[in-house]
Amino acid sequence: MKKILFAASEALPFAASGGLGDVIGSLPAAIKQADKDCDIRVIMPLYDKVTDKTRARMEKVLETTVELGWRKQYCGLYSLVENGVTYYFIDNEFYYRRGALYGAGDDLERFAFFCKAVVDLLPLIDFYPDYLHAHDWQAAMAVVYLKCLYGNTEKYRDIKAVFTIHNIQYQGMGDMYNMGDLLGLHEKFAPVLEFGGCMNFMKGAIVCADMVSTVSPTYANEILSPEYSHGLHPILEMCKGKLTGILNGIDREYYNPAKDCELVKNFSYMRAGGKKECKKFLQEYLNLPVKEDVPMVIMITRLVSHKGLDIVKESLYSLLEENLQFVLLGTGDYEYERFFDEAARRFPEKMRTLLKYDKELSKRIYAAGDIFLMPSLSEPCGLAQMIASRYGTVPVVRETGGLYDSIRDYGWPDGGNGFTFAPYSGMELYNAVKRAVNLYEDKAAWEKLVLKVMRYDFSWKKSAKLYIQMYERLN
Ligand code: GLC
Repeated sequence: MKKILFAASEALPFAASGGLGDVIGSLPAAIKQADKDCDIRVIMPLYDKVTDKTRARMEKVLETTVELGWRKQYCGLYSLVENGVTYYFIDNEFYYRRGALYGAGDDLERFAFFCKAVVDLLPLIDFYPDYLHAHDWQAAMAVVYLKCLYGNTEKYRDIKAVFTIHNIQYQGMGDMYNMGDLLGLHEKFAPVLEFGGCMNFMKGAIVCADMVSTVSPTYANEILSPEYSHGLHPILEMCKGKLTGILNGIDREYYNPAKDCELVKNFSYMRAGGKKECKKFLQEYLNLPVKEDVPMVIMITRLVSHKGLDIVKESLYSLLEENLQFVLLGTGDYEYERFFDEAARRFPEKMRTLLKYDKELSKRIYAAGDIFLMPSLSEPCGLAQMIASRYGTVPVVRETGGLYDSIRDYGWPDGGNGFTFAPYSGMELYNAVKRAVNLYEDKAAWEKLVLKVMRYDFSWKKSAKLYIQMYERLN
């Protein structure tokens, strides 16, 4: 029986801030589904965000202290079972009672503590996994501690470490002189963590892991180049032999327009009619003209530059000259918030900007839209284009990372499942949206495309098998 332990800083439905939470909330169950025999568990911090209702379902496993450098910190451990998967929660109120998941001045210490606890707790819960699978910089030090501190210790010795990069932009960097004080690591390990004069958690995990993966094959290739690697390409080039890319899937139950109780009317590709009512509802709700024959372009995104917002800015006013409506939901950089807010004010008949993060509302917008715009400058995988597809909203994406691996252009021989463009420019974006808008006028062709898009299989099935194969290659 395979034993797998995921270490990650977020998981739905407990606490999440983005796509990582989606993946950690759904991939373990998918792996379990594909290999019923495996024992897969997840470990994450117990944030104050975790609701009382969830806490009431938890069992207290133990209390101990974890050493981090000169510190001896309280560490509680709780657990619950969700979808056949055991989730462990590491409790320390000083570190995780902060309101937000990330963004504190001592984030490096908070997540180093988490990682040290992950490896130190294994004997106490008597669970030595065959594979310790850590995700992103917050869990990276678990791999480093495993290999540097316990690599020669019985039982730990056989644990294989996998490190998955969900976003290379965030690496967990700090001053080198903190290494001993903060992490409690001897200076002989400096070459493991040092990169460009800084301590770099992600670099340490890449070097130490037995296998490194990222969330799409194209991104695995892209991060070997300076344009995408945020500096780490020389390290990845060196570790190329153990680097692979596996496309994410989505939880088709959580994102299911046939059952989603956020929608005014449910629908599926068998009975797609309900989508029209969802659109009408949203138009009324947002006080936009209620018009079925005007295509609604939607964007649901964090308002940060790598999401491609600069080329949206370039082309938005030309797009708004077209016969379409535009709805944007998201929060982020002030500069973008102001720009899109202003555009909505100038085009009250056509555009709405909703500056918030709202999971429920997002589902209503996914269901109401006709065209989903995701023109990212870089995109490790992207889940939104898959969610949009599930809700029958045709993606228009830029050909990068996981977007390239999941969406093919309508012009392809088999007709494709969206519209794509490659050069990063407002003009190209405009042309791609325009092609979608033009097709929308051909009702029969559009409906055919919508049905095709809805049926596209973005489940975890294929990818869960690829993860299992990856683990097996390590034996
Ligand atoms: C990050 C990436 C996104 C990916 C997600 C889950 O949020 O930016 O592209 O889909 O992680 O792997």
